[in-house]
Amino acid sequence: MTASSPFITLSNGVKMPAVGLGTWQSSPEEVMAAVKAAVKAGYRLIDTAALYFNEEAIGTAIKELIDEKVVTREELFITTKAWSNEIAPGKLEPALRNSLKKLQLEYVDLYLAHMPAAVNEDMSKAVNSPVEDVWRQFDGVYKAGLAKAVGVSNWNNEQIGRALATGLTPVHNSQVELHLYFPQHEHVDFCKAHNITVTSFGTLGSPGRVNFTLPNGHKPEWAPAPSELKDPNVLAIAEEKKKTPAQVLLRYAMDRGLAIIPKSVHENRIKENFELFDFTISQEEIAKLEKSKISQRLFLQDFMIGHPEDPFADERK
Ligand SMILES: NC(=O)c1ccc[n+]([C@@H]2O[C@H](COP(=O)([O-])OP(=O)(O)OC[C@H]3O[C@@H](n4cnc5c(N)ncnc54)[C@H](OP(=O)(O)O)[C@@H]3O)[C@@H](O)[C@H]2O)c1
Repeated sequence: MTASSPFITLSNGVKMPAVGLGTWQSSPEEVMAAVKAAVKAGYRLIDTAALYFNEEAIGTAIKELIDEKVVTREELFITTKAWSNEIAPGKLEPALRNSLKKLQLEYVDLYLAHMPAAVNEDMSKAVNSPVEDVWRQFDGVYKAGLAKAVGVSNWNNEQIGRALATGLTPVHNSQVELHLYFPQHEHVDFCKAHNITVTSFGTLGSPGRVNFTLPNGHKPEWAPAPSELKDPNVLAIAEEKKKTPAQVLLRYAMDRGLAIIPKSVHENRIKENFELFDFTISQEEIAKLEKSKISQRLFLQDFMIGHPEDPFADERK
């Protein structure tokens, strides 16, 4: 029997699987096989984005899985994200319709603003669109039934507060960089207080980030960072529980009440990253894991420097 993920309930009653498959840097060929392996292993949530340039391949994989009766559309939970040039005024609904076409879907389960900072079409210039205006567009696509839930990614607490203050559709989910060495307690507490679910990205410390190449061939530089998969406390707990370091890091986030979306294009790791439901990490173990007290943001998103809605401006000072 295949395992099934627990669910996290969003404030509008929608149930989101707590474990999904990440797909950043998965090429169209890789992602087809990865999505099929994942769904066959029991995953129901797939996380993509317009910027990952793999929505079309994911759409094909989903269609084949549905046609083969492996899964129904209703059982799946598909998340995609609007890139910065798609949140500029008037751009969001056409962008979502474009993503839906590629995904061969009538609706997505969760639509996120990938970043809070709007840019122009060719991404050469900042567009001064306050997050309140961005959120108005999300309210529109939610009310039009094109997304079962809406949320944000890489927004800071103050920006989310301004979206909430519009009094429109509440923010259902916040997807942020969150891992053992960047635990984001303040953000999680803020979201809990406002009934917003949190998804952790980079839960394994995103070891593959250093291979990222932009469409123009440029390879961004990344600050050096220690590997969380080699953390002595992670290794000790893994040994004790007969689990892998990756499973300990994933379960650490789950036991903090968060959703996780580990990425892999390898079937053995896709299965490994879903074998999480026969053990837990206690609050005491969480405290022990966090003893290293490292807090380092890996995804600095420098392209937003100078933008009026740069979410990390305070951290850059
Ligand atoms: N909203 C945002 O701005 C944002 C930013 C980044 C990521 N995300 C989302 O979050 C997802 C996860 O983040 P991420 O991809 O950056 O990092 P991650 O899930 O922390 O790590 C993925 C990396 O770890 C490797 N890996 C996977 N399972 C492993 C295992 N069991 N043992 C050892 N290594 C393993 C993968 O390699 P292989 O593929 O070779 O196995 C890949 O290089 C993304 O794919 C994307 O969907 C969102």
